[in-house]
Amino acid sequence: MAGNNTFYITTPIYYPSDKLHVGNSYTTVAADAMARFKRLTGYQVWFLTGTDEHGQKIQRQAEAAGKKPIEFVDEIVAWIKELWQELDIAYDDFIRTTEDRHMKKVAAIFTRFYEQGDIYKDKYEGWYCTPCEAYWTERQLAEGKCPDCGRDVELIAEEAYFFKMSKYADRLLKHIENNPEFIQPPSRKNEMVNNFLKPGLEDLCVSRTSFDWGIPVPFDQGHVIYVWLDALSNYITALGYGEEQSNFELFWPADVQLIGKDILRFHTIYWPIFLMALDLPLPKTVFGHGWLMLQDGKMSKSKGNVVDPRVLAARYSSDALRYFLLREIPFGQDGIFSLENFITRINTDLANDLGNLVSRTLTMAERYFEGILPASTVAGPGDEELRNLALRTPGTVEQAMSELKTSDALADLWLLVRRSNKYIDENLPWELAKDPADQPRLGTVIYNLIESIRIIAVLLKPFMPRTPMSIFEQIGLKGNSALQSWDSLSNWGAISPETIIQRGDDLFPRLNLQAEIREMQGEKAVSEDKEEKTANEEEQQGLISIDQFQQVDLRVAEIVEAERIPKSDKLLKLAVLIGEEEKRQVVAGIAEHYEPAALIGKKVIFVANLKPVKLRGVQSQGMLLAATAQDGSLSLTALERDMPPGSRIS
Ligand code: MSP
Repeated sequence: MAGNNTFYITTPIYYPSDKLHVGNSYTTVAADAMARFKRLTGYQVWFLTGTDEHGQKIQRQAEAAGKKPIEFVDEIVAWIKELWQELDIAYDDFIRTTEDRHMKKVAAIFTRFYEQGDIYKDKYEGWYCTPCEAYWTERQLAEGKCPDCGRDVELIAEEAYFFKMSKYADRLLKHIENNPEFIQPPSRKNEMVNNFLKPGLEDLCVSRTSFDWGIPVPFDQGHVIYVWLDALSNYITALGYGEEQSNFELFWPADVQLIGKDILRFHTIYWPIFLMALDLPLPKTVFGHGWLMLQDGKMSKSKGNVVDPRVLAARYSSDALRYFLLREIPFGQDGIFSLENFITRINTDLANDLGNLVSRTLTMAERYFEGILPASTVAGPGDEELRNLALRTPGTVEQAMSELKTSDALADLWLLVRRSNKYIDENLPWELAKDPADQPRLGTVIYNLIESIRIIAVLLKPFMPRTPMSIFEQIGLKGNSALQSWDSLSNWGAISPETIIQRGDDLFPRLNLQAEIREMQGEKAVSEDKEEKTANEEEQQGLISIDQFQQVDLRVAEIVEAERIPKSDKLLKLAVLIGEEEKRQVVAGIAEHYEPAALIGKKVIFVANLKPVKLRGVQSQGMLLAATAQDGSLSLTALERDMPPGSRIS
C-alpha cells in the first residue's frame, strides 16, 4: 500500500459534453497546485485527471450534433487537453473512460460484485435525471424535480441490476465518524451523514437498458453499467488496479480526491461503498471545494468569452488566471468571478505588489551595481524582520497547503511580498545612492531584496509556474536547481554575491479596467440588462463603483524640487518622490499660492497614474491634490501623520 513519501491526488473526470468554463477549470488548477507543491517538498506524486465519456447525456448530445458519440467526445477531449496544456496542468495521467484499460476493469469489477452477491437483478421503476445521471425515488424528488439540479426527471421502468448499499452503510458511517479527515471541509460531513446516511440508504440501480453508450454488463449484453459506477472506478483503473505490476500498490489509497461540492454524495457514499465491496482501503481525504459563481448566479457557456478559460489565459496569461482561481475561492466557500475582480487582482497583487517589487529592485541593482549582486555587509532597519518573515513563510505556506487552503497560502506569501516592498520604502535606496559612504548599506539592501525575491519565486512555483522562471532568469539563477529548491529556503543568504542580475520585461503590466471590460464584455457577456440599467442610472447621478475609484493610483508624494515656469504666473515645475527610484516631474497651477522654496519637503497627496501631458512645453507626469475655496484660496492636501513617500492612499 501507498508509502509515506507518496502523494496521489485526483480531480473529478469531466463530462466532455461541452467545453469547460473557468469554474470547472478551478478543480484542476487547485489539484495541480497541490501536486506541484508536494513535488517541490520532495514527495513522489501521482496526479490523475481525465474525462467521463459514457452516459445518456453524451449520447443525446452527440446525436443532436449529428455525430457518433466517440467522434463527438474525441473533439471535446482534444480541446480539454489543450486547455490543460495552456494552463500548465502537469498531470501524470489522463484517463478516458472509453479506453480499453478502463472498460475491461470496470466490467471485471461489476462481475465481481455480482458474483459476491452485492449486485442483484430486479425490476426498476423510478425517476431519472439525465443531466445529473442520477436516479431518484418518488420520495426524494423536490416538488417533482431533481433534488440536485431542479430540472425535470423522466419516469423509467425496466429490468435492472441493483447494488446493496444498505449492506455497507453502518461500516461507512463508522468510518466517517472515526476519520474526521475523510470528508473535508468538516461542514460537508454533516450534510452527508444527516441527509443521506442516517435516513437509510436505498439500493442503487447500477445498470440501464434504454441506451447503449456505456460499458456493457459482461454477462447480460442488453444492459450497460451505470455511468457513476463506471466513472468512479477511474481512480483505481488508471493506476492499473488488477494488473500484475502497476502503480496501484504504490499510490492507493489516494491522499486527496478533490471534487466540487455538488458531487460529494457520489464520492463520500457510493464510492467508499464500492471500495469496501472490493476490499480496498478508502481515500484519506475527499475534499469538496466551493464554486466559482458569476455575480448573477451559475456559470454557463452562454455567458460568452468571459467564462472561457482559454480566452482568459491567452489574453491575461495562464499564471494570472491560475493566481486568481487559487486566491479568490476561500477555503471551502464559494467565490465570485467577474472581470472586475479578476483585473483588480491582477493590478493590485500581481502588478503593484509583485511586479513592482521585482522591477524596482532589479532596476536599482542595474543602476547602482551594474547588475552585479553586491554583498550584504552592513545591517540596518528592517533587515531582521524581513529575514525572519522570509524564513517563516515556507512553513506557513506549507501548513495552509496541507489543509488545501490555497487562498490562505497565497495570502501568507503576499505578506512577504508586501514586507519586501515596505523594506524598500524604509530604506530609501535612492537616498543611500547619493552618498558614497552609504554604498555598503545600499548593497546590503539590494542583496536582501534579491534574496527575498528568490524565496518568493521558489514558493510561487506551484501556483504560477511561469512567473518564477522569468524571475530566476532575471536574478541570474536560470537552471540553478539548488537555489530554486525547497531545501534552499531554510538558508537565508544562499544566493552568491556577484550573481549577474538582468532586468527583463515587467512581469504584469497594469491593465485598464474600463478598457478591458469594453473589450471583453462588449457583447454584454456578463451583465443582465437590468443590472446595466441600474449602472447607467448610477452613472447619470455621478456615482462610481469602488473598482472605478481604485483605478486612481493615489500616493504620498514628497516635493523635492520646485521652481517657477518662465512667463507663467500660475504654474510651478515640481519634482516629487513617490516611492519609485525616479523622481516625477509635475506641473502644478499653484504659483499664486505657494513660494517654491516653501514647498520643499512637503508631503502631499498625488495622482500617480494620470496620462502625461505637456503644459507650456513642460512634461507633467501626475497631479497634486489641492482644495480650492469659493474665494479662490487654495491649499495642498496634507497628511495627518508623517508617512513615507510612495505610501498608497485608499
Ligand atoms: N463527470 C462528473 C464527475 C465524475 S468523477 C468520477 C462531473 N463532471 S462535470 O464536468 O460536470 O464537473 C466536474 C467538476 O467541475 C465538478 O467537481 C464540479 O463541481 C466542478 N464545477 C463545475 N462548475 C463549477 C464552478 N462554477 N465552480 C467550481 N467548480 C465547478 O460532475
